[in-house]
Amino acid sequence: MTEVLRADKAGVTRAAALLRDGALVSFGTETVYGLGADATNADAVAAIFHAKGRPHFNPLICHYTSLDSAFRHVVADERARRVAQRFWPGPLTLVLPRQPDCPVALLTGAGLDTLAVRVPGHEAAMALLREVGRPIAAPSANRSGQVSPTSAQHVLDGLGGRIAAVLDSGPCAVGVESTVLDLSGPEPTLLRPGGVTIQDLESLLGPIRRGTPPTGGELRSPGLLPSHYAPELPVRLNVETVAEDEALLAFGPPVSGARCQFQLSAAGSTVEAAARLFEGLRWLDAEGSHVGARGIAVMPIPDDGLGVAVNDRLQRAAAPRG
Ligand code: TXA
Ligand code: MG
Repeated sequence: MTEVLRADKAGVTRAAALLRDGALVSFGTETVYGLGADATNADAVAAIFHAKGRPHFNPLICHYTSLDSAFRHVVADERARRVAQRFWPGPLTLVLPRQPDCPVALLTGAGLDTLAVRVPGHEAAMALLREVGRPIAAPSANRSGQVSPTSAQHVLDGLGGRIAAVLDSGPCAVGVESTVLDLSGPEPTLLRPGGVTIQDLESLLGPIRRGTPPTGGELRSPGLLPSHYAPELPVRLNVETVAEDEALLAFGPPVSGARCQFQLSAAGSTVEAAARLFEGLRWLDAEGSHVGARGIAVMPIPDDGLGVAVNDRLQRAAAPRG
């Protein structure tokens, strides 16, 4: 059962308690309804992908109460400060490099070195963020492949029964998603058109490069690119027998023999495996190199539930490097 909460003090308090507990709560913003989870809790973020039924990990937007709190987790240069000061709170998302000590779960950013951050211009969303006291990761609150919801009823139509609660703050004023602007490189790049126009951004930043044109209403996600973060060590999939000079990404009952290993889920849960995947790949890459492993061996992971997304990501990690 999904609780429908009114966006008053009691509703916000309840929604915040659920989020701090690792549950999923949908909430209204000025753009569309988001499907929120504590961004620092990898298990909660994995549950987002599970609820949405996504076949792959898309990097998610992290929501903050203020420019200062957002820019503590990413590296913001002068350009980022200029646009943020002008358009936050509001329908603008900035993609920036993660700070080395950023506490946001790697899964939130789909394992990337960058993080998308936004301060929503919406009273109830702000009240919720303040009450939670942590960044909230939130994609649009629709099932994968469906359109973004702009009312609590839309959310219930798609996700009712799959999430703990929806904080009903009425219809969304903007109705389209935020503009996604990538400022992680030297050239400002528009990744998704949205609530803030490109002309408004260009008046502050000068010419902005357009990312790949939208397909099916959404831009190609960096999470879909084959070159998207891959470990330095070669990756071998569906390994039944691990060599003693390999680093092992384990799943299920423990096996011995590897030079070092990282357990994704001893219990064989694909949701737990999703939550630990990027952490595991990074750890094995570093530790494996340290102990002289020649590659990363990955045990078979069932291709159902979040296992589909885990395997999709692993296949990219194992693909020939371009
Ligand atoms: O208006 C919105 O932005 C809504 C509300 C809830 O804030 N959220 C939303 O999230 O639309 P979502 O997950 O449906 O879209 C996020 C977009 C995707 O196109 C994703 O690829 C991009 O932002 N994105 C997120 N992190 C990124 C990153 N590190 N690098 C590049 N693109 C990123
Ligand atoms: Mg979406």
